[in-house]
Amino acid sequence: MASIPRVPIGSSTLPLLGFGTAVFPFAASETMKESILHAIKLGYRHIDAASVYNSEQPLGEAITEALGLGLIKSREELFVTSKLWCSDAHPHLVLPALSKTLKNLGLEYLDLYLVHFPVSLKPGSYVVPFDKTELLPMDFKSVWEAMEVCHSLGLAKSIGVSNFSCKKLQDLLATAKIPPAVNQVEMSPLWQQKKLREFCKGKNIHVTAYSPLGGRGTVWGTNEVLGSKILLEIAQAKGKTVAQVQLHLSFFILRFSCIP
Ligand SMILES: NC(=O)c1ccc[n+]([C@@H]2O[C@H](COP(=O)([O-])OP(=O)(O)OC[C@H]3O[C@@H](n4cnc5c(N)ncnc54)[C@H](OP(=O)(O)O)[C@@H]3O)[C@@H](O)[C@H]2O)c1
Repeated sequence: MASIPRVPIGSSTLPLLGFGTAVFPFAASETMKESILHAIKLGYRHIDAASVYNSEQPLGEAITEALGLGLIKSREELFVTSKLWCSDAHPHLVLPALSKTLKNLGLEYLDLYLVHFPVSLKPGSYVVPFDKTELLPMDFKSVWEAMEVCHSLGLAKSIGVSNFSCKKLQDLLATAKIPPAVNQVEMSPLWQQKKLREFCKGKNIHVTAYSPLGGRGTVWGTNEVLGSKILLEIAQAKGKTVAQVQLHLSFFILRFSCIP
């Protein structure tokens, strides 16, 4: 794989193409570690995990193995993202959640720590899919203050959010001392997020696309993207697969980072 371009995010640089680690139902497996190791072999340097994916431990093992095999010379070559799950999105639980994430990964710091969703769940609730009665409105001010503490302690080089709308970003920015570096959202040619991208550009918030191939339909996103007739016509004309055209569109035309 050719070297992946990077953009500056705070004091580090974010590789524009990332490797996702969510496999539904969320469970760790040997296959997960092997696929992450394979991705590193291919040249991926940005890996996207989350506590709710149960992918942090296999990712940590893959990093140790990649170092042992000499695929990377040091941990600094990687850009590791993980996410605060909704049941830990309470001010007193943020730092303990990040400490657990770092322990799972066997790392001293994350490159990026994201608030996974702009909503909280009752503390202690880790079952997915969750019951709607567990949902609570998030106290953006206090949760974000706790994220800022994670950053100031050096445990997260950058902090950001995921699945935040313009309105929710505005609410968060109203009290934030450190603005979010990233907003990771679903984005594809069928869901282009034009208004949100414009808003984020104005606030210097980097947008990362997840599910650029459309997602899994019944679990998240839509599976209509890979079935798009227009994309199929382009793919046939160019002698590429629909997925290749799709990633090209998400990565180069939308000019944001993406996590396939
Ligand atoms: N922040 C968030 O809330 C959030 C939400 C969702 C995802 N994410 C992140 O984004 C990552 C990617 O998510 P994703 O939705 O794109 O899931 P994905 O499981 O990587 O792919 C989604 C769909 O694309 C298909 N696909 C993958 N590669 C393909 C290829 N080369 N050719 C044809 N079809 C292909 C898959 O088919 P198969 O089933 O055949 O593999 C699957 O149906 C996740 O692992 C996670 O890290 C973040």
